[in-house]
Amino acid sequence: MGMDDGFRQIPGLLLAWYDVHKRRLPWRDGPSAYHVWVSEIMLQQTRVEAVIPYYERFLKALPDIKALASAPEEQLLKLWEGLGYYSRVRNMAKAARQVLEDYGGELPSEPVELCKLSGIGDYTAAAIASFAFGRKTPAVDGNLLRIFARLTDFAENIRTPAAKRQAAAFFNDIFPDDRPGDMNQALMDLGATVCLPGGAARCADCPLSAHCLAYAAGREALLPLMPVKKPRPVEERTVFVIRTADKVLVRKRPSKGLLAGLYEFPNEKGTFNKEDACTYCKNLGLTPVSVRLLPAAKHVFTHLEWHMTGFELYVAEASTAFTPISDLADSVPLPSAFAAYTGKVLQS
Ligand code: ADE
Repeated sequence: MGMDDGFRQIPGLLLAWYDVHKRRLPWRDGPSAYHVWVSEIMLQQTRVEAVIPYYERFLKALPDIKALASAPEEQLLKLWEGLGYYSRVRNMAKAARQVLEDYGGELPSEPVELCKLSGIGDYTAAAIASFAFGRKTPAVDGNLLRIFARLTDFAENIRTPAAKRQAAAFFNDIFPDDRPGDMNQALMDLGATVCLPGGAARCADCPLSAHCLAYAAGREALLPLMPVKKPRPVEERTVFVIRTADKVLVRKRPSKGLLAGLYEFPNEKGTFNKEDACTYCKNLGLTPVSVRLLPAAKHVFTHLEWHMTGFELYVAEASTAFTPISDLADSVPLPSAFAAYTGKVLQS
């Protein structure tokens, strides 16, 4: 590769910066492969600060691969409640069973082998291989793609497999032999705190600015180039909090599709009024004694948005399908799509 010689200085500069500015995170400093795996799967769609408490609780409940492999699904979903993208934790449990069956209970160190496990792709395999096993494998995520695009003033769409391959090749070429795991962590920290997306880049604080072609050309705020995303479809939904003083009606969602296997308050497409809400309740064989409109709420999924209207309906008597409100917090996995209708609403 006809690489600009300046790029060869990147590892030294970046690792020196990292030694001073690194964020202290619970999955750093000599983690086991299992610890790296759990943290990287959580971090895929979720911010670092949000992940930390989930990470610690998860490892306390399921301290090793064997425990993960045999955990009941409802425990997994409860531990993941609020993180979203619940197939991540199902895939992890499946992969844990594969590890027990095919790898003697230990995660393999080879990226190709790691990629055979459910839910582990190139990024996660590279992260585990470098952080836990010291392999020289750049973990190409959005941060590394953005840094690559700016360092090289990459003028093409970054969201293509070809761009990702070029980024991987670029980093492979400059990765250091001695601290490959720290190099990945340093790139992630640079992306998260300095080489920020859009116009927020803090080039004055960047250890690599002297080697950044986009910075030299004044183009850092324009890169990386990304195709415009289509807006998500919006679905109007009405949520029914049907309750007595101490019990509430929840149901389990189907095992396939959106929020598979999680629990929910009964809800339907469309925007109901009070009268429709009472009729809905009666059609369930329950007699409403009061109905109250709850605040509207919004929840954003990957490919869909729910715009919700809520009703609280007190009924005279709970049927056997009702759950004690006190159980919601510790045993029923209720995704954050319904967060607006738990909390204060159910305390009273
Ligand atoms: N984002 C994804 N993986 C990360 C890590 N290991 N440290 C900090 N941020 C991350």
